This record gives sequence, structure tokens and C-alpha cells, in this order.
Amino acid sequence: MAQRHRDHLPEDFSERSLSEDVRSGLTSSPKTLPPKWFYDKVGSELYEEITRLPEYYPFAVEREILMARAPEIVSAAGSHHLIELGSGSSEKTRALIEAVLASTPDGEQAAYRAIDVSESALRAAAEDLALRYPALELESVRADFEHGLAEALAVDEGDRTGGRLVIFLGGTIGNQNPQQRQRFLATLHGALEPGDAFLLGADLVKSPDVLVPAYDDAAGVTAAFNLNVLEVVNGRLGADFDPRDFRHVAVWDAENAWIEMRLEAVRDVHVRIADLDLEVDFAAGEQLRTEISAKFTRERLAAEFEAAGFDAAGWWTDDAGRFSVSLWTVAARALT
Ligand code: SAH
Ligand code: AVI
Repeated sequence: MAQRHRDHLPEDFSERSLSEDVRSGLTSSPKTLPPKWFYDKVGSELYEEITRLPEYYPFAVEREILMARAPEIVSAAGSHHLIELGSGSSEKTRALIEAVLASTPDGEQAAYRAIDVSESALRAAAEDLALRYPALELESVRADFEHGLAEALAVDEGDRTGGRLVIFLGGTIGNQNPQQRQRFLATLHGALEPGDAFLLGADLVKSPDVLVPAYDDAAGVTAAFNLNVLEVVNGRLGADFDPRDFRHVAVWDAENAWIEMRLEAVRDVHVRIADLDLEVDFAAGEQLRTEISAKFTRERLAAEFEAAGFDAAGWWTDDAGRFSVSLWTVAARALT
């Protein structure tokens, strides 16, 4: 079956967009870096390792929900064209792909498009899926879902096989702050049409006794994942961060209902970022925020989606209520 790969990122995406983020993030107070820079080849592999850790429940629990409910979800969405944002390894998606393949009527084409910034993750997933599902039309698109979302979701009229089911798994929506999420939902709503649906995997609020170890595991894999962002800045922008100058920190912010991952300077640190001609100082104990991972309640998700114009069309959780998978649709727009 046809397999296509497209790159929607400009040639200089890593350098230009990373430069802007590093300059603004490291000169602001407190210092921050956005989480999308975790995912170079090493970072994508470390994330895969995180998903196999005993403390990191979101991956296993979401997979359990999808394996139990995929036929029901696909039937509720009524679509055989899956488009996934931040697809990574696409491993959990296989349950949905299999349900789509099983329910696609004769004469129609089941299709899957993976969208991710990580070239290495996209390639590995496409190779695996092509072997597993020869009947599936497969596309991978390297794109940033915070910029150019509508273009990444667009399907040529000639390739249309009914409505699209856009999926966003893993709790990745929680890595956006509330303003980014509001913008994301507004853009998504504008890009979807009646007959399309959106499937979201979102992690739920629970005890910090469970949440904090999920982001600060005993084997130190999450710490390595967090520290790797410094290597990304070193490699791409000629910086001289020494990861041994920083330690991984994960804290639960109850007021905002999110986990924050930070890198804390263990001593006074001076860093030069050659390509930006920028010098940055960290005082001992100063923290650089590298990720938020928001946790939700059903009410909060419903309020945010309804405010963005979506209708609730399905809600599934595991028995212990640790993680949610929810389906959202858009109503026909009124003629003006
Ligand atoms: N969906 C998978 C992977 C989640 S990890 C799962 O549930 O396990 C988050 C994924 O989103 C990574 O593969 C990362 O490369 C991708 N990602 C992060 N920010 C992105 C962005 N702005 N645009 C596109 N992909 C992004
Ligand atoms: C991809 N994202 C949803 C993960 C999360 O749980 O926020 C990334 C991650 N960060 C630390 N561990 C995993």
C-alpha cells in the first residue's frame, strides 16, 4: 500500500525556532525551555524507555483503555481515516488502527497519518506499521502542531475517505500551558468539519504520591530525559552546558494541577551559547522549567472543549480512573 513521507518544517526549523525559544526562555525570569526540544533521537528513545517504567502509569493505562475500547471508539467516531498528533512510536495507536481496518467497508480505504516533530520516531513507526498493516495507507508528516496545524491536518479532496478522526494521545495536551491549549483547541476547531472527530488521551488528577514518582523514577530515566535537553542545545546551538551542573526536579503544583519538571543548578553556572552570542548565568539553586504536564478532571476538560465549540461524544477511563480517553465532535456551523 502507498506510503508517503512529507516534511512540513522549514529547513532551518531546528536552528531558527530553537534559537528563538532558547534566547527568550533563558533570558526570562524564571528561565524556561519548551518541551518540544526534548525529542531528538536520544530524547525520543528515552521517552520510549520512560513508557516502560513501573512508575510511569499513563502509557500502560491509556493502552489498556484503547485495547478494551478501540472498536467502540472507532464506531462512535465513524471514521476510517486516522490522523495522529505527536504520534511518537504509534505503539498504542495500533489498537485503533486494527479497529479501523476491521470496520472499513469493502471498496473504501483505511488510512493513517502520523504527525510529529521527531524525524527518527516517525521513520521507525512508519517502518513498523508498513510491515504490520499492508492494507493501510500510511503517511508520515514532520510538522509542529503548535504552528501549521491546519496544514498538517488537510486532506486532498481526491484522498478523502469520509470524516477524519484526529487523535492526540499520551497526555501530550497537558504539556501545553492553558493559553497554548486554548489556542490549540481554537485552531483545531477551525480545521475540523462536521463528520470529523477528535480523540484525546488526557491524564487525570490524582495523589502526588503517584504523580511525583511517575516524573522522578527510581532508575533515573526521567532525569536523563530532562537533562538531555541541555545536550540538544549544546549540539544544535554550540552551547557549553555541562549536564553535571544540573539536577532533575519534579514537583506537583496543586494550584495549577500540573507537574513541573525543572533543572536545578547545583552550583553557580556560567553558560555560553556560541551560535546566539549569548552568555547566561545560573545562581546555585536556580531552576530552569523544562516541562509542565497538566492533569485534568472531566469537568475541566468539558468546560475547555465546550468553550472552544466542541460537543462531547464519548468518555472512557480505566476502572481506577487514572487516565481518560474522550471523543469530541464539531457541529455544523451556522450560515451567516
Ligand atoms: N503519542 C505518543 C508519544 C507521546 S511523547 C504516546 O502517547 O506515547 C510526545 C510526542 O509529541 C513526541 O513524539 C514528540 O516528538 C511530539 N511532539 C512534541 N511537541 C510537538 C510539536 N510541537 N509538534 C509535533 N510533535 C510534537
Ligand atoms: C509526552 N508527555 C505527555 C509526557 C508527560 O507525561 O508529560 C512527557 C514526559 N515527561 C516526563 N515523562 C514523560
